[in-house]
Amino acid sequence: MMINKELIGTLVVIVLLLRSVTSDDSNGNGGFVRTSGTHFVVNGRLFYTNGFNAYWLMYMASDPSDRSKISDTFEEASRLGVNVIRTWAFSDGGYNRPLQVSPGSYNEQMFEGLDFVISEAKKHGIYLILSLVNNWEGFGGKKQYVQWARDKGHYLNSDDDFFTDDVVKQYYKNHIKAVLTRVNSITGLMYNDDPSIFAWELINEPRCQNDLSGRILQNWITEMTNYVKSIDNKHLLEIGLEGFYGESVPERKQFNPGYEVGTDFISNNKIQGVDFATIHAYPDQWISGSNDEAQLTFTKNWLESHIQDAAALGKPLLFTEFGKSSRSSGYNVSVRDSFLRTIYDAIYASARAGGACAGGLFWQVMAQGMEGWSDGYEVVFSQCPSTASVIQQQSRRIAGLN
Ligand SMILES: *[C@@H]1O[C@H](CO)[C@@H](O)[C@H](O)[C@H]1NC(C)=O
Repeated sequence: MMINKELIGTLVVIVLLLRSVTSDDSNGNGGFVRTSGTHFVVNGRLFYTNGFNAYWLMYMASDPSDRSKISDTFEEASRLGVNVIRTWAFSDGGYNRPLQVSPGSYNEQMFEGLDFVISEAKKHGIYLILSLVNNWEGFGGKKQYVQWARDKGHYLNSDDDFFTDDVVKQYYKNHIKAVLTRVNSITGLMYNDDPSIFAWELINEPRCQNDLSGRILQNWITEMTNYVKSIDNKHLLEIGLEGFYGESVPERKQFNPGYEVGTDFISNNKIQGVDFATIHAYPDQWISGSNDEAQLTFTKNWLESHIQDAAALGKPLLFTEFGKSSRSSGYNVSVRDSFLRTIYDAIYASARAGGACAGGLFWQVMAQGMEGWSDGYEVVFSQCPSTASVIQQQSRRIAGLN
């Protein structure tokens, strides 16, 4: 009897140990991503990233017949050594299978889609950056939130009231809470507790043209950062900024593409609780009148100046959106490949030298059979072997630093 009991006790311990080992392994790279100065670390080791955007994952995953698009994308990403994917954890209102049907009311089928995306990420050892709302109209965005408040009889002037109106801010906080405390129907883990989430993003590309002083956005970011941290202190948080400079350091405005958008890269990222900085770059749209060479120069300077700022802020920088549209003049695949290579070289140079840029996520990957979704920037791996190879080379040398 005694022996049996001891045996059973030993077996239980072994099983528990095995479980803890497997659950670590099932997250591929290990545990929660953290920062240490201008670097990311995972389990005490430096962590540099290479990845991409795929905003459509939740939407496609919400239809079981489309789920292979998600699995195939993660499979391919894993083969190319990609370790981070950024995607939307929002879809607000409208008729096209919203996640949030109306304030506080959720479509379970969509949440199960997001559950699947997170579980696939875990399975493939790939981290996710999840964005919580859109500045733009795609999938609802601040316009939809403002409309919801209007539907309740509140008088609101513009979509930028998203950042100031108390009713709208509460709707958005409720959404933050709904996502962060969601229990994944596949893994059983609350999103809050899931290390396969690299970071939360407050809002994709915030702009507040109504207030170029930057005060409105500074206040909103501070309030929402505090809110996220009050319910989740394990995950990193970033704002979703494109990188436009504002009033705090006027000399920096010379790097803007000729205008401001109500953000202030430096003061916004100084906010306590913002764990790392991000930039985007679309010179083909931002300075569309200039030639390819000028656009490339702009992008290099844009990255370089933000790397310096991030170093001064003592926070890492991720280049979370950049890409080359097939609709731009003179486009061909080798032009896109060389554009990516140039940016990858700059990111790698910073990382290798111990600089603040920790990686890049290009815009964007789509699966086969998504022709209707094309925006010109999409890379379909099976149709672009040369681009896939450029991405894989970057993943390899970046991984060499980890
Ligand atoms: C792509 O465009 C570049 C620049 O216009 C040109 O030099 C190159 O030959 C083109 N490559 C192909 C494969 O068409």
